[in-house]
Amino acid sequence: MLGVLVALLVCLLMIHFLRQLWSHKSYPPGPLRLPIIGGTWRLGIKLYKDTVLKMSEQYGNILMAWLGPIPAVIISGYEAVIEGLINHSEDFDERPVTPFVKAAVNGHGIVFSNGHTWKQQRKFGVTTMRKLGLGKKGMELQIEEEAQQLVETFARAKGQPFDATMAISNSICNVICAVAFGHRFPVQDREFIKLMEAIEYLSKCIGSVSYLLYELFPWIMERLPGPHKKALAYLEDFLSFARKEIENHKKCAVHEPQDFIDFYLFQMKKSKNDRNSTYNEDNLAQCIVDLFIAGTETTALTLRWALLFMANHPDIQEKVHKEMEDVLGSSQIFHYQDGKKLPYTNAVIHEIQRFQYILLVGIPRQSSKDVNLCGFFIPKGAIIVPDLRSVLLDPKQWETPEEFNPNHFLDKDGNFVEREAFLPFGAGGRVCLGEQLARVEIFLFFANLLRAFTFQLPEGVKELNTDPIVGASVAPRPYKLCAVPRSSSS
Ligand code: HEM
Repeated sequence: MLGVLVALLVCLLMIHFLRQLWSHKSYPPGPLRLPIIGGTWRLGIKLYKDTVLKMSEQYGNILMAWLGPIPAVIISGYEAVIEGLINHSEDFDERPVTPFVKAAVNGHGIVFSNGHTWKQQRKFGVTTMRKLGLGKKGMELQIEEEAQQLVETFARAKGQPFDATMAISNSICNVICAVAFGHRFPVQDREFIKLMEAIEYLSKCIGSVSYLLYELFPWIMERLPGPHKKALAYLEDFLSFARKEIENHKKCAVHEPQDFIDFYLFQMKKSKNDRNSTYNEDNLAQCIVDLFIAGTETTALTLRWALLFMANHPDIQEKVHKEMEDVLGSSQIFHYQDGKKLPYTNAVIHEIQRFQYILLVGIPRQSSKDVNLCGFFIPKGAIIVPDLRSVLLDPKQWETPEEFNPNHFLDKDGNFVEREAFLPFGAGGRVCLGEQLARVEIFLFFANLLRAFTFQLPEGVKELNTDPIVGASVAPRPYKLCAVPRSSSS
């Protein structure tokens, strides 16, 4: 009797499986979809930076990896990513509202909002960043000041080995404080320390096993303690912190808006009789949290990789130093417009962002309707994962994709060249809102640190480990280096 039941069960499963194969025959290929966990088994227990690349080598540039019952399409390589993000920009400009995203942001802000709310908040964000002076002097001056403070912090190590992680994160976080609140925090400030802890914890939690389990089984995980609960609590604290700053701004009314909150409060007043307005304090608080989460860890990780590569490649560092001396002599501070005169330095910065991309993929999108993408059927509601890393390593686009080679961004005469496949900030309607700010920050911090120091390996160390820690972001392992003051700047 038991034998018959087992045989029946196997038959039913086979029929279910074959029906599924038939009905999904025009979907992109991908790992076998198992009940409950879908194709997530293919990701393995531990994520590696090339996990997704390996999957696309096996299944092709457009593949379907089921996240439990939800179809998730991974798009790899320059051509397919451009087709998805540019030629289907509107079809794929939503973000998926997964259980964790819903619990965390509830449709507010910019990064994970959709529809009318997203359009209004994003438009406001883009114009405000411009008004705050990016591309003009305003914000650049504040970043230069922050870069100088970082130089002073490094100088205090007196050329001895030290770990620069905290100092870099503090500086980058203070740039966002200046954008959002109009002031910086002393690094010993308790609220500031808590803010930094929250950012670090949230970046580590996204991509962890606990996070993945929450996405798959929210009804169970909501009831269990664990890192996912701690991450949600941190987010709540973060929102309270933002609300406190909003209250402070409301108390000191200004005539000329100076920072993101000022501009937003003005906008709220202006549109208070507009019934379609989404300008309210919930969205404002979430926008602030978004700026911090999207803008701190990303830029700080890029700089940490940059210094690691300089210590590991003294020949390249020397060329950067030489170019700076030849072009700018003994200038004490470098400005953003100096970048145009420093093609090699600029090429090195771009190559760091290309070769050691700091996001595992990008930020997922969602299909707002049924779409035909390069001959494959993508159903409405599918999660779209543009693999930006694969674009930055696409062998059809880069001469030596697996090699750290600044020549990727130089022509034969040594002039800097922009490359179309340089897409670390994404593309299309959802392209990174902070791209310009990030570019200014990375240049000013990198150039001013290299003007002041030679970065060397501690005695007895042959090379710093480049094997990354992989989560939602790709971070260097903790390392120490020596920032030896350069004679021209001492
Ligand atoms: C090296 C630094 C950075 C990198 C590599 C980076 C990368 C990205 C990527 C790949 C996206 C998703 C784009 C897409 O879906 O196509 C994104 C979105 C976003 N980024 Fe950045 N980012 C950086 C710095 C910043 C900074 C400094 C800010 C602001 C302070 C910022 C704010 C945002 C926001 C608000 C979004 C969401 C845009 C939307 O959904 O409309 N990012 N970023």
